[in-house]
Amino acid sequence: MTNANHFDRIRKCRVVPVLTIHDADQSLDIAKALIAGGVDILEVTLRTPAGLEAIRRIKAAGLDCLCGAGTVTTLEDIQACKDAGADFLVTPATPAGLIDALKAYPGLVLPGCATPTEALSLYQHGFEVVKFFPAEPAGGAPMLKALSAPLPKIKFMPTGGISLKNMGTYLSLPNVLAVGGSWLCTDKDAESSDWDAITAKSIEARKTV
Ligand code: 3PG
Repeated sequence: MTNANHFDRIRKCRVVPVLTIHDADQSLDIAKALIAGGVDILEVTLRTPAGLEAIRRIKAAGLDCLCGAGTVTTLEDIQACKDAGADFLVTPATPAGLIDALKAYPGLVLPGCATPTEALSLYQHGFEVVKFFPAEPAGGAPMLKALSAPLPKIKFMPTGGISLKNMGTYLSLPNVLAVGGSWLCTDKDAESSDWDAITAKSIEARKTV
């Protein structure tokens, strides 16, 4: 699949769950619950030791979804994601030392930024869609709205403080490809194995889209 296909798929789904998986044994249940609710783009963060293994298992299961990695912060992370077969990478911030390795990644990359200068600099490196993080503290939807006139070609995936309540405001902006957030699958949902709750929230989110 090309990056253009990946973008199309993200553009269709428009909501990307940011998953922090503590137990890799739950990864398929979580993934299936999201997919059942119509959410087929999964960002599994590398914040827990189980993250990479979760990506491996979801990829190996051949589920009908894109499974990428979030919280990618080091060159070692990028290599490990490549080995695990992550479809896409998301970084919370993008220091210069990561740029070359991100550009060489054999999949889609959504590098993180929080300012206009960072966004333009990433665009000049060839990244057409960037993550805007942390969205709410960094200016939220008004900030992205203000950027759409001077930087119309740059598309954003905001995350950080986004939920069902405010996702519609972001998605109404012309420069927002999709929104991301952890609310679709919380630690509480996973601790109680409440897969139905994850599916219900996914359905709700897709309706809002
Ligand atoms: C991220 O990693 O993108 C954010 O931490 C998700 O933010 P949220 O927990 O506020 O949704």
